[in-house]
Amino acid sequence: RWATHGKPNKVNAHPHFDTHHTLAVVHNGIIENHDALRRDLKEKGAIFVSDTDTEVIAHLIADFYQGDLLKAVQQAVPLLKGAFAIALMHREHPDQIIAIAHETPLIVGIGQDETFISSDANAFSQYTKEVVYLNNDEIAVIKANKLDVYDVHNKPVAVERHRISETSGDIAKGHFETYTLKEIHEQPRSIHNALLSRTVEDYGTAFFDEIDFDHNELLAVKRILILACGTSWHAGYVASYLIEDMARIPVQVEISSEYRYKNPIVPPDTLVIAISQSGETADTIAAVKEIKAKAAKVLAICNVQGSTLTREADACIFLRAGPEIGVCSTKAFTSQVVVLALFSLMMARMRHMSKQEGQAFLEGLQTLPEKVQQVLDNSYLIEEIAKKYAHYQNFFFLGRRYMYPTSLEGALKLKEISYINANGYPAGEMKHGPIALINEDCPTVALCANKFTFEKLLSNLMEIKARNGKVIAIAEQDEKGLQNIADEIIWIPPTIDELAAIPSTIATQLLAYYIAKERGADIDQPRNLAKSVTVE
Ligand code: AGP
Repeated sequence: RWATHGKPNKVNAHPHFDTHHTLAVVHNGIIENHDALRRDLKEKGAIFVSDTDTEVIAHLIADFYQGDLLKAVQQAVPLLKGAFAIALMHREHPDQIIAIAHETPLIVGIGQDETFISSDANAFSQYTKEVVYLNNDEIAVIKANKLDVYDVHNKPVAVERHRISETSGDIAKGHFETYTLKEIHEQPRSIHNALLSRTVEDYGTAFFDEIDFDHNELLAVKRILILACGTSWHAGYVASYLIEDMARIPVQVEISSEYRYKNPIVPPDTLVIAISQSGETADTIAAVKEIKAKAAKVLAICNVQGSTLTREADACIFLRAGPEIGVCSTKAFTSQVVVLALFSLMMARMRHMSKQEGQAFLEGLQTLPEKVQQVLDNSYLIEEIAKKYAHYQNFFFLGRRYMYPTSLEGALKLKEISYINANGYPAGEMKHGPIALINEDCPTVALCANKFTFEKLLSNLMEIKARNGKVIAIAEQDEKGLQNIADEIIWIPPTIDELAAIPSTIATQLLAYYIAKERGADIDQPRNLAKSVTVE
């Protein structure tokens, strides 16, 4: 169960029922106003048994039901806020399933005397290639050999049938050419989901209902050890700056494959944070098992419910980013940074950070989806730059402070989907050797969105220009001083230094994507790579 609310246990498992078990509902997505609906329905006598948002759907439709199931659904759906794909059955209508979608994929498969529904056609493509995509708020009434679709006003909707291609994987990409591009563009929504019902505006802090560490356990934390691999390690590195800057707790960030072979020194009051999108990365799981032998508490940051890591950890915060199909990690990285930023805020507000500081930080977080959308809206400008630079075989990515791990992530993205030799470096380190590689054949992507160290970065870039190195700057709008240094500038919306990794990373993801596309690479499934490295 890929859950957004409530632990993955039996009582929270789907389907969910109304009080009298007349209705069964399964749901993918998030009902954002579930709290208010739950309160109203409880006042009408509904008895809730689970911690999920989904259960309100069953009680709400049952509340409207007076014999006409379609009508009850048409009355209930407009009251649901959020993103959802729903399927439901009713005891008095055993021959039909009703399905509805809003901002979440839902596909109907039309077979021979059988009909299928799923969020992803891969689930039934071996039985039929005839499909119907449900659009927002269309209600499908499905029988074994009949499909009728209506809108919420009971107006019949003409359905358009499609035939999915033999490589049925295409289906879930919607109108995107690759899963990777779809997932890059999902980030305003995935970041919104990562924040949902975890911010406490009145007190300028964050809250995770998945963490059942008590307040004193979190207050007792004196040091933090982060374990991860690849992109997740980069997210952990960004988090180390956030936690140290905001909560003033020392952080050690370790690559799991190295750490698992150390004889770890784990002082008391250490909290271990294990970051893994898949929750199946063998090195991270092994490192966690080793560290548990030293009796440390482990908090997992993961995107897959029920994965091995979530069962090894003492608690788990889920990304809610939705399945990430592209082998290179995109939306998981930004959701990891957002979740870890919320965690840093919670730990800081438990200590010395003021309410006003906390509220200002929350405001920075909550404007991220729109800032990310602004970068996505300029994809065409980034694509033009990518085409000009796609032939180079070597790149540097440079940044300072929060932009250093952001550079590492940008370089990894380009490496893994375009096969270009790209290396991320702390900008101040270039003069200690790597600058020997700079020439007209080795461009540099400069991550400039760190005001605190911007002037220092400028001098590093001038050293590169003096050696005929080309510079592609990713900078916050209206930043001065780049015009005579950068050969290209990718402007991004300004934010606080602590959160600049998010808009900057959207730009580096798009740059890597369009360079790889220009080079004809297989972006969703790059050579030699697997989505989760379940082996050593
Ligand atoms: C990132 O684009 C890569 N796919 C890879 O580095 C990945 O981040 C790493 O294997 C860790 O995977 P995990 O987050 O599932 O543990």
